[in-house]
Amino acid sequence: MKICVLPGDGIGPEIMAEAVRVLQALDLDCEMAEGLLGGGAVDATGDPYPEATQRLAQDADAVLLGAVGGPQWDNLPREQRPERGLLGIRKQLGLFANLRPAVLYRELANASTLKPEVVAGLDILIVRELTGDIYFGQPRGIETRELDGRQERFGFNTMQYSESEIRRILRVAFAAARRRNRKLCSVDKMNVLETTQLWRDVASETAAEYPDVELSHMLVDNAAMQLVRNPKQFDVIVTGNMFGDILSDEASMLTGSIGMLPSASLDVDNKGLYEPCHGSAPDIAGQGVANPLATILSVAMMLRYTFAREDDARRIESAVKRVLAQGYRTADIYEPGTQRVGTGAMGDAVLAAL
Ligand code: IPM
Ligand code: MG
Repeated sequence: MKICVLPGDGIGPEIMAEAVRVLQALDLDCEMAEGLLGGGAVDATGDPYPEATQRLAQDADAVLLGAVGGPQWDNLPREQRPERGLLGIRKQLGLFANLRPAVLYRELANASTLKPEVVAGLDILIVRELTGDIYFGQPRGIETRELDGRQERFGFNTMQYSESEIRRILRVAFAAARRRNRKLCSVDKMNVLETTQLWRDVASETAAEYPDVELSHMLVDNAAMQLVRNPKQFDVIVTGNMFGDILSDEASMLTGSIGMLPSASLDVDNKGLYEPCHGSAPDIAGQGVANPLATILSVAMMLRYTFAREDDARRIESAVKRVLAQGYRTADIYEPGTQRVGTGAMGDAVLAAL
């Protein structure tokens, strides 16, 4: 098992240290190599996804990523921003299938801002297409053009999907629904956008391959509303890159604890990049208070999807449930009556539970 470890910026290095300890405790035969991605990489090399990291990532079976970005890099030219490193690695490795589970742990039922009865037992999976759509479509840019006889700046991006790109992400989503409650909701904006009319057509065609899964369609604005009105109506949601970006943030907040959510981004052979759904939280970086559980749960996803080690994945997930049941909480999920711990102590608790 060759794993490329990219701690990244902000709280990234702190949470990654705990995830690596958990991985090492399983005593698997794995080889880890660490690289730079994001703001730290820009500072060191001028490139948010330097060549040395590209080689490490291409050579590995899986990539574990902390988080990238921070205010000190926000004013750099676009091609040097940390986010560009993240988009670059996704595109270069062909990681088109992004799986973002939103699960509400029983012990954290009060963490959500929604009423407990609306979210209790929530367990949905968002499957987001990750290497196409308006994120990567050409042409794009900001140009000065003549409009109504005067010069004006003009911004433009291109939303686009090929039939094959849509079909392959739909197949990942149908397969995932098959392993769960066999309900798939495909989200589009077909009442306005041709690209997503094609999306809906291909989704309906692909459904014929999965007669045991119930497919429904929903417009993205309605989906945004339904996610807060009655989120438990969903099992698996599949959508394009941009709608998925937005809906997955919304879904994560239903659980009230974005610090708990892992994600996987997979290529056609299940090589994957695994990262927490949350960002680099520069405001608390270096304080030892960040929640490492999403990164630890990302290790579980890695063992499940890339290495097909379901038993080890479950061991980690059970250990996390156990520490929550024991009452350990980092600041982001703390409530009176529980025990507030820092990043390292949370890692210790998971190791003890393992
Ligand atoms: C995400 C993030 C990224 C995205 C940013 C940091 C480029 O929001 O992973 O959801 O938009 O995909
Ligand atoms: Mg996002």
